[in-house]
Amino acid sequence: MDKQRSSFTGKLGFVLTAAGSAVGLGNIWRFPYLAAKYGGGIFLLVYLILAVTFGFTLMAAEIAIGRKTGLSAVGAFQKLDKRFAWVGYLGAIVPMIITPYYSVIGGWVTKYFFVFASGGAEKAAGKTYFDDYIAETAEPILWFLVFVGLTALIVFFGVDKGIEKVSKVMMPVLVLMTVFIAVYIICMPGAMDGVLYYITPDFSKFSIQTVLAAMGQLFYSMSIAMGILITYGSYMKKDVNLESSVHQIEIFDTGIAFLAGLMIVPSVFVFSGGDEEALGKGAGLMFETLPKVFNSMTGGGIVGAAFFLMVFFAALTSSISLMETVVSFLGDRFGWGRKPACLAVFAFCVLLGLPSSLGYGVLDFIRIGSNTILDMFDFLANSIIMPIVAFMTSIFVGWILKPKALVDEIELTGTFKAKKLFTVIIKYIAPVCIVLILVSSLLDAFGIVTI
Ligand code: PHE
Repeated sequence: MDKQRSSFTGKLGFVLTAAGSAVGLGNIWRFPYLAAKYGGGIFLLVYLILAVTFGFTLMAAEIAIGRKTGLSAVGAFQKLDKRFAWVGYLGAIVPMIITPYYSVIGGWVTKYFFVFASGGAEKAAGKTYFDDYIAETAEPILWFLVFVGLTALIVFFGVDKGIEKVSKVMMPVLVLMTVFIAVYIICMPGAMDGVLYYITPDFSKFSIQTVLAAMGQLFYSMSIAMGILITYGSYMKKDVNLESSVHQIEIFDTGIAFLAGLMIVPSVFVFSGGDEEALGKGAGLMFETLPKVFNSMTGGGIVGAAFFLMVFFAALTSSISLMETVVSFLGDRFGWGRKPACLAVFAFCVLLGLPSSLGYGVLDFIRIGSNTILDMFDFLANSIIMPIVAFMTSIFVGWILKPKALVDEIELTGTFKAKKLFTVIIKYIAPVCIVLILVSSLLDAFGIVTI
């Protein structure tokens, strides 16, 4: 590689870009519904523990691999050890699985923005509005196509930098709105039960599924185990402090997820009774509860429209970076031009997204347990492939490459404060725990052994 690799201007540029891609539907849509479903405080606790241990270590490792090699995932693994190139390929599959269904949810967000913007707050707060809507055939598909089409157009013309600028303005607004809505909801009668449920760990609700769900969410939210951070690392300058960048991205990403939960979980208690069925709603939780919150506010129609617009931008920047990853993978590996690659990825996303969308309507009969087609794609990416990639990455760094190689890379800008933690986790704790979590929860999920 003799071509000069362009790089981020500095630490702020790096952190903002990584955070921009990290913060998305994972934080606002996915984290709260998992927290609600998996026991509230106990999920939060497990998530936080995993974030400061696994999350920190794997994120630092991936960025360091990228910066050390100056290459994206497949090339980086290939350069360091040919036998591990397949880990790069496996990681590259993740965004291919996620982008289609991510766009289906993006379509729901877009629809909700238009409903609120056209004065439909009361309608959207109706008891069965969301379930009725996603069970339809044509309309959810239409909004899905709008969302994925827009993503593809932006990637096709390579104008994502412009969108990123817009979204950097949107992000603080989104954070402020989330704080505002959370405060509003916490002040409502009955909300305290929800707050307590969300922040007090109830150890009787602990299960191995909680840990797997938290781990999958961690990878998803921080864009770990899909090669993306390796690519970002390859653009990071050598004089940028890697360790503190990772801390900042983590704090930012986790902070927003926490706030989103603080807004949504208590709402479930205030408006839907907070029973197990309401909390276990899954993918539809945000769409079902927030309209009720907005509808109860004076001027809630505007607040709702503004909120869904912000979420739309957060989702769009993430879907752009997901699609971009697939497009550049096809370019790097198979020499495809940007435009044909983009068209192919678009077609692929439509093909895979359609069943996810229809899985709530005409294809509703295709379920594993209560899991819809969308849930199955989500499970495959987050709870199976990503843990495998994370496991292989830690084996590779811990035992083949040796942690020292990455510690040296991280220490280019001074001492690596968490060096010991990093080394112990990547060598022993991560591989052992990931295997235990993965195997036991799969056995559990398929009803072979119940833990
Ligand atoms: N981390 C993003 C989210 O939380 C999803 C994403 C993954 C975006 C990978 C880009 C790349 O929504």
